[in-house]
Amino acid sequence: MSITPPTPSPASASVVSLLKEDRVFAPTAAQAASLGGAYCGSLDEYRVQHARSLADPAGFWAEVAADFEWFTPWTSVVEWNCPDAKWFVGATTNICHNAVDRHVLDGHGHEVAIIWEGEPMPNGVPEVRHISYGELLEDVSRCANALKSLGVVKGDVVTLYMGMVPELAVAMLACARIGAAHSVIFGGFPAPAIVDRMLDAASRVIITCDGAWRRGSVVALKQNVDHAIELLAAAGHTVSHSVVLRRTDNDITWNPARDVCWKELNATMSSECECEAMDSEDLLFLLYTSGSTGKPKGIRHSVGGYMVYTAFSAQQTFNLRASCGQVFWCTADIGWVTGHSYIVYGILPNRVPTLMYEGAPNFPGDDRFWEIIARHRVTHLYTAPTAIRAFMKWGDEHPAKHDLSTLKLLGSVGEPINPEAWMWYREHIGHDACPIVDTFWQTETGGHVITPLPCATPTVPGSCTLPFFGIDAAVVDEHGNELPANTGGLLVIRKPWPAMLRGIHGDRARFIDTYWSRVEGMYLAGDGARRDDRGYFWIMGRIDDVINVSGHRLGTMEVESALVSHPAVVEAAVVGMPHDIKGTGIAAFVSLAPTAIASDALKAALREHVAGVLGPIAKPDMIRFTQSLPKTRSGKIMRRLLRDVAAGRDSNQDTTTLEDFAVLAALRGNDE
Ligand code: WT7
Repeated sequence: MSITPPTPSPASASVVSLLKEDRVFAPTAAQAASLGGAYCGSLDEYRVQHARSLADPAGFWAEVAADFEWFTPWTSVVEWNCPDAKWFVGATTNICHNAVDRHVLDGHGHEVAIIWEGEPMPNGVPEVRHISYGELLEDVSRCANALKSLGVVKGDVVTLYMGMVPELAVAMLACARIGAAHSVIFGGFPAPAIVDRMLDAASRVIITCDGAWRRGSVVALKQNVDHAIELLAAAGHTVSHSVVLRRTDNDITWNPARDVCWKELNATMSSECECEAMDSEDLLFLLYTSGSTGKPKGIRHSVGGYMVYTAFSAQQTFNLRASCGQVFWCTADIGWVTGHSYIVYGILPNRVPTLMYEGAPNFPGDDRFWEIIARHRVTHLYTAPTAIRAFMKWGDEHPAKHDLSTLKLLGSVGEPINPEAWMWYREHIGHDACPIVDTFWQTETGGHVITPLPCATPTVPGSCTLPFFGIDAAVVDEHGNELPANTGGLLVIRKPWPAMLRGIHGDRARFIDTYWSRVEGMYLAGDGARRDDRGYFWIMGRIDDVINVSGHRLGTMEVESALVSHPAVVEAAVVGMPHDIKGTGIAAFVSLAPTAIASDALKAALREHVAGVLGPIAKPDMIRFTQSLPKTRSGKIMRRLLRDVAAGRDSNQDTTTLEDFAVLAALRGNDE
């Protein structure tokens, strides 16, 4: 039996060194009481329920799904033909009905569904909107009718490229209502990302904003859309309509043949629109995510399983309770899965107000988040380790200035959280009173798959602890054999779960190859992990050529392709490197065309070039020029060597030197 330990990413180094972590924080009765009473109140209860969820998935999930409204019942709960799962087979429902209509029909139409806060604070006055379920229902229905009037029908893919405005949630729910799938593109991505995704999804309608606020300036979304539409036209793809919501009032060009004003269009629409009866397995949305090749994958999620799993996982992991004064704030952007699942779809069905904030955490001041929490009396904060590390750097005085006593639960997501950040979060934000849930999951899993339950699971800083209900997670070798405690291996999930991806849009072979071929019969997450003596999971970082920059997945090959598309670059290799705030930074080794001149100016130009192709998050933190890239005899780039170089040298020193890797490579041997 050969055991291939995963190659830990640089970010995981700190996690691996925690083998000795022995601080354990047990849930307290006071915490459970402050959360309105525990759903799952002890580790024993968790173990019993978890075992039951694996032994009798049909029985377990049928009970959970009974809390939702279905238009027609299922004939079977799950059908599994690896790698294809069907959940709530034969049932019809609508996720918009369960997230919005149901509450109105039950007499809760006046309660707050969405609390929205804009970024700008002119004269220190925040711009806030409270949208009730009743108002949301009307807005969504108008938007649904508007989409229909533009010719959108069930099965179409509508692209959403907007800032963090409530209309983004409205547009998602409107798509869901009429059975159109949405494909949300993060507003920080540039035009080429829109082109790739609209082409891949054959999407002909896009909803955008004139601009989005970010740190006091305007991100020109409509301009990017115009550019993308030109590029798409050149590729033979026609975008029939772009609906534009005015938000920033920046100058935009208007093409009356295809541009439609959101406000004008919606104003003429009826506020009634029946929900489409969707088959449980119909497509709910596509969300593109990076993989190990240059092309992002369109992850497919379907209606029924995703609906049940996201709302149930939100309820259990955050102990959500309606009518208990809870206010849930997930700080992610809706452009990522975190926002899909835990700003919109998982939270609204639980009838707990979901807070949506438009802008940056440090605008106009470094205390913006804490000020928002105090003013809106936020009870649940769900954010990313990279943000926590930034808060630590900005200083303890910022949270200390504000009343954070309403907080009852803290969550972390996106990357391994280093124990220092975990402890700071606990002490300075949670005042040692709030449970912390470190939730491991992925775009592909739809919802949390390894996470503590706040009133049941003793937590250990840096560990995402135990599998969620229905999740048969394990750490295995290449043959699928489970590994002993504290042995690094491949993280897999061995049984289907309701919110699992239903495929990669238009690429069956890649779906099989990426997730199902390395370890037979098991879902491969793409992360290395180990379990400790308690059975707790510790995520060690990606095992593929994907790096996790500030909690965002980026394929190194995407950055390489972007670099090589610059005329000065002949070849490029990109690896992760340790970064204090981002967790993993981006190091690029670049060999130049003979005519190009290595200079700091060229480095700056390359960084801007990458930002123009992939967005600012993909800008390399360090660029090294090199004569040639170190390769094995078979021509594979020696990434391990590059990772060592990137980790071991000060990026600000010696920045423009042309390196010769031949000597280094010879010293190491061609062992990669
Ligand atoms: C990858 C998925 C799921 C929401 C945001 C990212 C890493 C995510 C954790 C965590 C350690 C984590 C993994 C995973 N990751 N959460 N709590 N601890 N690592 O979604 O873009 O699909 O990325 O993020 O590497 O595979 P995503």
